[in-house]
Amino acid sequence: MRTRVAIIGSGPSGLLLGQLLAGIGVETIILERSSREHVLGRVRAGVLEQGTVDLLGEAGAADRLHAQGLPHEGISLAFGGRAHRIDMSALTGGKHVTVYGQTEVTLDLMQKREAAGLVTVFETSNVALHDFDGASPSVSYDRDGVTHRIDCDFIAGCDGYHGVSRKSVPEGALKTFERQYPFGWLGVLAEVPPADRELVYANHERGFALCSMRSPQRSRYYVQVPADERVEAWSDDRFWDELHSRLPPQIAAAVTTGPSFEKSIAPLRSFVAEPMRFGRLFLVGDAAHIVPPTGAKGLNLAASDVRYLFAGLREFYGGKSEAGLDAYSAKALARVWKAVRFSWWMTTMLHRFPETGEFGQRIQEAELDYLVHSKAACTALAENYVGLPY
Ligand code: APR
Ligand code: PHB
Repeated sequence: MRTRVAIIGSGPSGLLLGQLLAGIGVETIILERSSREHVLGRVRAGVLEQGTVDLLGEAGAADRLHAQGLPHEGISLAFGGRAHRIDMSALTGGKHVTVYGQTEVTLDLMQKREAAGLVTVFETSNVALHDFDGASPSVSYDRDGVTHRIDCDFIAGCDGYHGVSRKSVPEGALKTFERQYPFGWLGVLAEVPPADRELVYANHERGFALCSMRSPQRSRYYVQVPADERVEAWSDDRFWDELHSRLPPQIAAAVTTGPSFEKSIAPLRSFVAEPMRFGRLFLVGDAAHIVPPTGAKGLNLAASDVRYLFAGLREFYGGKSEAGLDAYSAKALARVWKAVRFSWWMTTMLHRFPETGEFGQRIQEAELDYLVHSKAACTALAENYVGLPY
């Protein structure tokens, strides 16, 4: 079998790249380890920068997003018993974010791909990347006991943090940077109306909490828990009690409780692999970097990687040059590191770090108090949250 670009992974990165390439007649095949149902069953953050919304529109996969997405012009920071709204739109010349679950983004892209009759092979195993340091790379995989090979021009490693692509890079050719946080996020989904029109990020001495949403009828809440916490230790009642204890009274009073239909714990880490290109192999999205969800940057960084790689491939197949492909890693990493810094800063400011004790708590409260009363500081937060320029 032969294709132009072999894409490993059917998450947002792989699907978005495949859809954009289809739009310029460049053929792709996506190889996915899991089943279609498993991919669509993943629950992930869904706060989209305008650039991400625009790219999904370019891919022809934004109809439902425009119909059901929730435009948000601000967020609130809660600490010291009060919530402070930051009007990000006013501070960024009208920019805003759109709340729309990543699961929905993935479904929209998957349905577009299927409607176009483009090939995605689900439930593959033993995917292996070959000869990407030369001009004739290929990918092999097993399915139903048969080993298949795909010859291609390029390989896009869109297979996430645990994927095979980054691990296929020769030893020593990759430099990685990592920070593990000593806590995770316990998240629940419940079919109850959100506590507030916009997101509320809460700093509290008991730990961080976040009030988010998926729709006017469906809420998403998180509380910070120790890194080794087990989800079985958290009944719905215990979760709602802990959430209430970390929110300012007027926000807590607005929380509608109800049975959770999804409850899980996600670890928090910052991770970057450099560079993001190895000959004909390009690392994209979570395959190259991970951010703590505090800044809602994971999906948006995947989209910006795709934007840069798509521009390079369009230039290459347009018969022009490889300049865009040669520039991919440096361009993508410049934006990745700014988002990694912002996500680290939001995480450091809002979470309880046991080792910094009471002093650390007071420093965080002082930083938050300065922040919400400084137009300059609020502008800096707003510019990063709505998305820095590409
Ligand atoms: N072979 C084939 N597919 C693989 C392999 C493999 N060896 N390893 C992983 N995959 C698949 C996974 O099953 C998953 O569907 O690659 C896909 C990677 O998708 P994501 O992990 O969602 O990564 P990405 O598409 O870059 O999207 C990043 O997803 O995890 C969130 O917070 C993250 O919002 C960010 C977004
Ligand atoms: C979510 O709704 O899941 C969400 C929103 C904002 C974040 C993280 C997660 O920063």
